[in-house]
Amino acid sequence: MEIKTVGVVGCGLMGSGIVELAAKYGYTVVVREINDDFLAKGLKRIQGSMARGVEKGKLSAADRDAAWARIKGTTQMADLAGADIAIEAAIENLELKKSIFKELDAVTRPDAILASNTSSLAVTEMASMTKRPGQVLGLHFFNPVPVMPLLEMVRTFLTSEETYQTARKFGEGLGKTVIVSKDAPGFIVNALLIPYILDAVRMYENDFASKEDIDTGIRLGLNHPMGPLTLLDFVGLDTTLFIADEMFKETKDARFAAPTLLRRMVTAGYLGRKSGKGFYDYSK
Ligand code: CAA
Repeated sequence: MEIKTVGVVGCGLMGSGIVELAAKYGYTVVVREINDDFLAKGLKRIQGSMARGVEKGKLSAADRDAAWARIKGTTQMADLAGADIAIEAAIENLELKKSIFKELDAVTRPDAILASNTSSLAVTEMASMTKRPGQVLGLHFFNPVPVMPLLEMVRTFLTSEETYQTARKFGEGLGKTVIVSKDAPGFIVNALLIPYILDAVRMYENDFASKEDIDTGIRLGLNHPMGPLTLLDFVGLDTTLFIADEMFKETKDARFAAPTLLRRMVTAGYLGRKSGKGFYDYSK
């Protein structure tokens, strides 16, 4: 099957990045949000990122305009009926994702591929909500989607060879390097990233070192672009806590047990960059 139209469910941080990427690569994209307000915010984020791409010399103004014209926003799931592939990028909540897959299964063509951008939840559970489990897989992008070169594909026991090959070609066609993981908690990247980030929070919580020194240590000592606490602010404390809690629930492995400080910060609304405050202050 040739993919021409991409449906995206959710226009948050990840969804908007996927929409932008697919539109830039020539696909017609239909993105669905739950209400007009969220949709407007998501579309504004795409415009901002495209403007940044133009400013950085990565995208011509003409290509930006053409990409923008390929994007259609909606609040109706039924508008994804024409999608060859639908990518779910809602929040990390399994029950919500399962209900979205059930809806997608009902509204999309029977031959369409259904994918989840989940960063840690069981894709098999989502597949089980559909009548086409062989056409379901994980397509985990990284933030910021237009910039990060990786796409982590998640192949379940049920994913068919044809679906895997079509989705792989689609991902590589979006300029990404593809890696493949089993449907195991956290897949490849988050199975390694989450314990590392939680350890950094514990280190700070235990007064081992200042947050700046923890971040500088990793940035300059290991040449990472961001230290772990800056990265946590970037990904979102709430998102990271969701992921850690889900991984802990599934594995009961103490490496995924969230430190109290992280939980309290999320309750207090310190979500990182998106809320203006996390480990660092972004209000200015
Ligand atoms: N569109 C296109 N290109 C863009 C762009 C945009 N909107 N914004 C930036 N770029 C390009 C820039 O032109 C630049 O390209 P060159 O290197 O070719 O010049 C590159 O992207 C870097 O941009 P900047 O120089 O403006 O910014 P920076 O150097 O401060 O880097 C960053 C920003 C890419 C975010 C970098 O800090 C980084 O890589 N951080 C780590 C990000 C990371 O780890 N992400 C994964 C998070 S985990 C996740 O997503 C998964 C999960 O499940 C939790």
